[in-house]
Amino acid sequence: MASDYHAPVLLHDCVNGLNIRPDGVYVDVTFGGGGHSRAILEKLGPQGALVAFDRDRDAWNNASEDPRFTLVRSDFRWLRNHLRYLGKLPIDGLLADLGVSSHQFDTGARGFSFRFDGPLDMRMDARTKRTAAVLLKELDETALTGLLRAHGEVDNAPRVARTIKQAIAQGPITTTHQLVEVLRPVTPRREESGFLAQVFQALRIAVNDELGSLLRLLTESAACIRPGGRLVGDQLPQPRGPFGEELDASGRCGWRGEEGCVRQPAPAFPAIDQQGDTAK
Ligand SMILES: C[S@@+](CC[C@H](N)C(=O)[O-])C[C@H]1O[C@@H](n2cnc3c(N)ncnc32)[C@H](O)[C@@H]1O
Repeated sequence: MASDYHAPVLLHDCVNGLNIRPDGVYVDVTFGGGGHSRAILEKLGPQGALVAFDRDRDAWNNASEDPRFTLVRSDFRWLRNHLRYLGKLPIDGLLADLGVSSHQFDTGARGFSFRFDGPLDMRMDARTKRTAAVLLKELDETALTGLLRAHGEVDNAPRVARTIKQAIAQGPITTTHQLVEVLRPVTPRREESGFLAQVFQALRIAVNDELGSLLRLLTESAACIRPGGRLVGDQLPQPRGPFGEELDASGRCGWRGEEGCVRQPAPAFPAIDQQGDTAK
């Protein structure tokens, strides 16, 4: 596991939130550099087990040789299938440290950051086909406006979307700095970084269908965690807009914290049993 890959925030709050039993089965669905996984393994005894997930090939190099550890090289949306296959159900706790790792952000060739020039890629999983460049080409102006609003809360989303689509009509946008240049006429002068961060975040969330994966994870985890077990999330998004409504409608996920959602530091909340009742 690599300590220079990602410096986990809220490491101890998250791991303590799992209330680890030495012989329990735990899942870290966002392995990354393995900082949280390492801390979980330190609390497990010889009979304990940790299953980690990551869909990013770069993270796979950080896998531990520890016999209690298994790395699943997949999107965590397939949680239940993989755990069933591995014979690890039910589990005692699950940790999700959402978002991108420092490694992903700081590697220009991945295209996640406007700070570096690189291909407009942003895929966490290189096995998927749709890069941010492809997404921008495929979406029409209305869909792009909706995406910028929903995932980036971009104020002048219609104007930004129009600017991007007009530029693409002249030729493809294939690099991060090309996109920054295209956006220059609509970039607020005093809030350049904040604005670009919002646009890049919106594209990243869409490219990786991050909310789709999260929704599936939250509903599936309810069927995987034993009553009394824990689900701990760091950086869970606010349940607003269609995503929040879908979560509420699923009736299987509870949110706790400020303004009805789990925020940093994310409190652990009890697992929900198979009937949808909150476990004690
Ligand atoms: C914030 S980092 C986690 C860092 C980790 N906790 C550590 O200590 O190094 C998030 C990681 O989750 C992975 N990830 C994000 N969404 C995923 C998904 N749907 N399925 C599997 N892995 C995902 C990313 O590739 C990234 O490596």
